[in-house]
Amino acid sequence: MNDLDQLVAQAQSEFAKAPTPAELENAKARFLGKAGRVTELLKALSALPPEEKKARGALINAAKQQVEAALTARRHALAEAELDQQLKAEALDVTLPGRQRGLGGLHPVSRTMERIEEIFASMGFDVADGPEIETDWMSFTALNNPENHPARSMQDTFYVDMKDAEGRWLNLRPHTSPMQVRYARAHAKKYAGHDPMPEIRVIAPGRTYRVDSDATHSPMFHQCEGLWLGENVSFKDLKVVFADFFRQFFETDDLELRFRPSFFPFTEPSAEVDIQFGHGPLKGRWLEVSGSGQVHPNVVRNFGLDPERYIGFAFGMGPDRLTMLRYGVNDLRLFFEGDLRFLNQFK
Ligand code: DAH
Repeated sequence: MNDLDQLVAQAQSEFAKAPTPAELENAKARFLGKAGRVTELLKALSALPPEEKKARGALINAAKQQVEAALTARRHALAEAELDQQLKAEALDVTLPGRQRGLGGLHPVSRTMERIEEIFASMGFDVADGPEIETDWMSFTALNNPENHPARSMQDTFYVDMKDAEGRWLNLRPHTSPMQVRYARAHAKKYAGHDPMPEIRVIAPGRTYRVDSDATHSPMFHQCEGLWLGENVSFKDLKVVFADFFRQFFETDDLELRFRPSFFPFTEPSAEVDIQFGHGPLKGRWLEVSGSGQVHPNVVRNFGLDPERYIGFAFGMGPDRLTMLRYGVNDLRLFFEGDLRFLNQFK
């Protein structure tokens, strides 16, 4: 092997060992740079006698071309390796399924609320909404439950240490019954010149609050108030409305209703409404689903109406309870803990 062959072999080996383009350029400089070994050989030509110069020059040039070819080949190889790596790093698997957004759903109690609204709307009931912070007068006094009357303790009310602009104490409404008063008063005002006044037929679903917490009671819970008032509305109508409602709600005719005498200050007579299924896991058990009664004359008076003329019934049912019965849920707290494992089942 002559000196030029050795030089070429050395260049090839150094280029091959260069792991990066930068190091390859350093190696190139050692051979082809201004002070590189090939360059030095060419410079040395001038010292040779003219007859040797040509042959030696041709040999050096041939060696130089080999070195250059080795350099170019290594440059390509390194560039390709780099590209390969980049492609691998940025690889995109177009066969992966897309990421989907989690689908939300209505809360089971909201479903019940919508269902209640739909069914009552189909019977000609309006749907009303009202404040959750109420005055003492609306929550109790107007509902024939005077200040300091023991019947107020039927409800463990959250009292707010604050009065409204007219100096009335405030509370978190312990039931939706104040909506009877709000709605009826607005209705009476709206139809003041009409004789007779159009009937009031309304439900008022919403949140209610009591100092109460166990498997079947939550400090925040839901109620749906109902009121039907006119010149000729009787307990019979209440019974028909309820029978119709519960059969539609539970999608079965195999269901019995019972009115059990009870007491509420705002109704006289008053009744608890129980239902009983003729089938299924709750078959044969009476289940309390609503309070109800004929609106007390004092309450009708507080509506701004004449109790000698206008009569009707009211009720307050528990949508949370209805949801538990409909879906077979045995702990009310599940509804309000926000556990997605529970809630996802209702989507
Ligand atoms: N407000 C009552 C409660 O929370 C429920 C109720 C009973 C509402 C009888 C009524 C009614 O409208 O007539 O326990």
